[in-house]
Amino acid sequence: MEMRRTSTAETIRRYGAALLAAIAALLMRSLLAPVLGYQNPYHTAWAAVVFSAWYCGIGPSVLTILVDLIGIWYWFLPPAGSFALADPRTSIAGMLGFVVFSGFIAVFGKSARRSLARSHWAEDQLRNAHAELEGKVLQRTAELRLANESLRELSGHLQQLRDEERRQIARELHDSVGQLLAALSMNMARVQSQSERLDPGVARAVSENAGIVEQIRKEIRTISHLLHPPLLDVAGLASAVRWYVDGFSERSQIKVDMEVPADLHRLSAEMEITIFRLVQECLTNIHRHSGSDSATIAIREEHHTIVVEVKDAGKGIPLDKQMEMRSGRTGVGFRGMRERLRQFGGQLDIQSDSGGTSVSARLPLPPVSNSHLDRQTAS
Ligand SMILES: Nc1ncnc2c1ncn2[C@@H]1O[C@H](COP(=O)(O)OP(=O)(O)O)[C@@H](O)[C@H]1O
Ligand SMILES: [Mg+2]
Repeated sequence: MEMRRTSTAETIRRYGAALLAAIAALLMRSLLAPVLGYQNPYHTAWAAVVFSAWYCGIGPSVLTILVDLIGIWYWFLPPAGSFALADPRTSIAGMLGFVVFSGFIAVFGKSARRSLARSHWAEDQLRNAHAELEGKVLQRTAELRLANESLRELSGHLQQLRDEERRQIARELHDSVGQLLAALSMNMARVQSQSERLDPGVARAVSENAGIVEQIRKEIRTISHLLHPPLLDVAGLASAVRWYVDGFSERSQIKVDMEVPADLHRLSAEMEITIFRLVQECLTNIHRHSGSDSATIAIREEHHTIVVEVKDAGKGIPLDKQMEMRSGRTGVGFRGMRERLRQFGGQLDIQSDSGGTSVSARLPLPPVSNSHLDRQTAS
């Protein structure tokens, strides 16, 4: 209903404009009569027809042609002010020429208008599709960002769970298996104290067993401490790292220099384990990949930020690995470090060339660090 009303109004507007153009052409022609004379009275009428053909459509163009034809016939074809014709042959030929060529103009105008309308329509469609696509892209981007954030959160949470699980396994190993082995070695000692009463072969076996039990005890202790160094909770990061580095140097024969101030502030438990795992991963990488026989570890506090640097003098990370790491396709160890650091708003920087590799992490300290006090009062 509304559409029909607007289309009727539109039709009236187009016919009105065509009629006005026709009348304006006649008026203009009469105003120009002193200049142009009465020869060829169609000048301004052509302009009106072109206008109607372009802007108003074929029906209105026919109206313009008819009105101008009649107007010119009456006012401009001699004798002026009558439908009589002084020179019928020339005048009729002129009128026919005007009608035929005006008709052409009207038909061309119609097809031009149609193709213009079609290209407007196509443009509109394109614009709509573009807007729709843009909306969809925005929506997908927001969804992706959300998914990414929740993945990051999940990965941080999983790291924490893993730490907690390791801590539990370490405690279990120490408390149950460790205690049982301690009891076993005490019993073995009792048997050994009576060894002179045993057959020499059996006595040797018992003594060997005592050695094996002791070895297992040490092994279990090391595994338990590597799973979660007890020093980390009791004495803090500096001591735990020092303990780990000593064991690492002994096992790997890699000389490690440590620059860790003894009075390093205690940090939150999560932050300390993060830094400990980072150093652990870097040293493991140096042992597995670098070929270096030395390494340095520096931990310091700088402008309310904890800076951790681990360097080696090895062969460096191969370029193709570096490219892969940048595109996130490899480097589980480094990715794990990054995820851990992200939980604290920290960042990781890796520099590597043929002279060695330097991994540095920066972790902003929380505004008021009373975590140590909290932990002390809690324990
Ligand atoms: N200190 C290093 N020296 C040389 N190459 C290294 C060093 N650290 C890491 N890399 C290279 O970077 C890669 C990614 O390391 P990482 O993320 O720890 O994964 P992974 O140790 O499980 O291979 C390693 O596979 C290795 O090629
Ligand atoms: Mg690694």
